[in-house]
Amino acid sequence: MTSTRSSCGTFTLPGEYYTSKDIHERERKRIFGLRWQYAGHVGSLPKPGDYFLAEVNGESLIIVRGQDEKIRAFYNVCRHRGTRLCSEATGAFGKHIVCPYHAWAYDLKGNLAAAPIMSEVEGFDPESYPLHPVSVGFWEGLIFVNLSEQAELFEEAIAPVLGKFSEWNLESLVSVHQTRYEVKANWKLMVQNYSECYHCPSLHPQLNKLTPFRDSINDLEAGAILGGPMKLSSGSQSMTMDGRTCAAPFGHLEGDDLNLVHYYVFFPSMFLSLMPDYVLIHRALPRSPNLTTIICDWFFSPEAIAQPDFDPSSAVDFWDMTNRQDWHICEQSQLGIESRAYQPGPYANLESMLAALDREYLAAMDQVMP
Ligand code: FES
Ligand SMILES: [Fe+2]
Repeated sequence: MTSTRSSCGTFTLPGEYYTSKDIHERERKRIFGLRWQYAGHVGSLPKPGDYFLAEVNGESLIIVRGQDEKIRAFYNVCRHRGTRLCSEATGAFGKHIVCPYHAWAYDLKGNLAAAPIMSEVEGFDPESYPLHPVSVGFWEGLIFVNLSEQAELFEEAIAPVLGKFSEWNLESLVSVHQTRYEVKANWKLMVQNYSECYHCPSLHPQLNKLTPFRDSINDLEAGAILGGPMKLSSGSQSMTMDGRTCAAPFGHLEGDDLNLVHYYVFFPSMFLSLMPDYVLIHRALPRSPNLTTIICDWFFSPEAIAQPDFDPSSAVDFWDMTNRQDWHICEQSQLGIESRAYQPGPYANLESMLAALDREYLAAMDQVMP
C-alpha cells in the first residue's frame, strides 16, 4: 500500500529490535500476551464438540464449540499434572475433553467433570480445577483470542472495522487452501513488508501489473488496524495468475469495490486481504527474533465452491508466488540488519504505514523512538 502522507524524518528501527532475545521476550509479554489475535474461523467448528488447536504466543489453545453452541478457548493444559490434553490439530470431542494421562475429564465449558479415584484424596474439590480459560471475541466469523487476564474490550479493539467489510460476508466463507511457511526473519519485517508497495515494482512484477504500486489509499492510518485499498488496473479483475477472477465476485459487492483490493494489518499478527472474489488471511507466529511461522488461508464463498468448475488454483498460485517473493526478501533484510554495518534508514513517503506501525509497536512496548 502507499499513501500520500509524508514519512519525513522517520527512520527504521535500530537493529536490536530484530535480533535481541530480550526484546523478543518483551514483545511476548507486552504485545502477544496482551493484544487480541486472530485464531481461526467459526466455519471450522460447525457442530458442538468440534475443536481446533491454535498457537498463540507459544501457547497451545483449544478452541471448542460447546454443547450450548458457544465457542470457548482454554489452555491445552491438564489441571492434574499439566499434560497437554489434546495433540491432534483438529477434531471433535464427545461431551468431554479427556486427558490421555490419568483420564481427568472436562466438560466443554471447562469444568472438571470426572477425576478417577481422586475422591480418595481428602478435601479434593473438582470445582477448584477447571481448565484455564482464555478470552474470545468474534468479528465477522473470525475468532480472536486474548491471553491477558485484563484483556482490552474486544469491541474497542475491533471498532475501526465494525461493519466495514460486511459485503464480503466473511462469516460464511470457507478456507479451501492453507499453506504454512517458515521464514528466517523477524515477524515485524513481514508486517512491514505487507504494509507498503514501494517494493512492488522490483519484487512483484506480476502483482504490480494488476495493482500499480502508486494506486492506493490508506484509510486507517493510526492505531492497531492499518491499511486501505489498492486499485486494480484496467482489464484486471482480481489478484490471480491471469488477472481474472477465479470465482464470481461476492454477491453484495458493487461499484468501486469490484475494482479494488483491500489490505489491512491487524497488529500484531493478522493480515487481511479482500479481493472481489476471495479473501486471504495471513497469520504471523513469532518463534524467535529471527524465525517466524506464517500461516496463510485462502477463503471462498460456499456458492463459488459449489460450482462444478470451481478452481482456486490461480488465486492460490498467485499468492504463493508473491508470498515466497516477500519471505525471501524479508530473510535478506534480516541478514542485512544483523550486520554490524546496519543503521536505521529513512522511510520513503510510500512507507508511511511502516512509520505508523513503528509508533503502535513502540507504544505497545512502552518505549519512545531512541
Ligand atoms: S496429567 Fe492429566 S489426568 Fe493426570
Ligand atoms: Fe510484497
